[in-house]
Amino acid sequence: MTPARRVVVVLSGGGSNLQALIDATTSPAFPAEIVGVVSDQPEAFGLHRARDAQIADRCVPRSDFGSRAEFEAGLAQVIDSFEPDFVLLAGFMRILRGDVLTTYAGRMLNIHPSLLPLHKGLDTHQRAIDAGDAEHGCTVHYVTPELDGGPGIIQAALPIDANVDADQLAAQVLEMEHRIYPMALRWLAEGRIVAERNSVILDGRPLDGPVRVGRDELDP
Ligand code: GRF
Repeated sequence: MTPARRVVVVLSGGGSNLQALIDATTSPAFPAEIVGVVSDQPEAFGLHRARDAQIADRCVPRSDFGSRAEFEAGLAQVIDSFEPDFVLLAGFMRILRGDVLTTYAGRMLNIHPSLLPLHKGLDTHQRAIDAGDAEHGCTVHYVTPELDGGPGIIQAALPIDANVDADQLAAQVLEMEHRIYPMALRWLAEGRIVAERNSVILDGRPLDGPVRVGRDELDP
């Protein structure tokens, strides 16, 4: 049996996506295991989730470093120390720019709460409502130097109900995030998806765009 692929999750906050990934990867048949959780925020609840699951956790506070580049090098060193096959950003609220992107090119994913390329950056739920979008969702994509701009792997969509507010919409989207991030990790760990130049190959075929699923198609 192929050994489980090693995954580091990097976050800044509550870590509900981390929890979904922990729940998925602790099933014995899952082809990946989380070997470390790294946060830039000492108070991140995600660190507690890691400890509860007996996963090594490390904090790399921005304030321990002078320049942004030094912080990023320190962060990369901690990530590297776990010798991960893959790095998953899950609510990591900083933009990476340096060598870590090259080191983990094609091996670093992010989850973003919008139907990329729509609504990159912050406040995505309110912006989707304000734009009058008919639907909204979330996307798992490869991380590249372009913010929220790397090739998409999978996205889940739902219609925006009339009168829904941004918090309600965020909660609906978050539930879908918890379904698609483990799916994407499984594909990655099984070698079903690979990044090639600026496109994604799934089962040997280049994707035109991320695989698109509706809320109803996701497991409860
Ligand atoms: C999620 O909405 C994710 O898409 C975004 O940050 C949020 C993190 O939530 N990148 P959590 O910490 O996983 O609960």
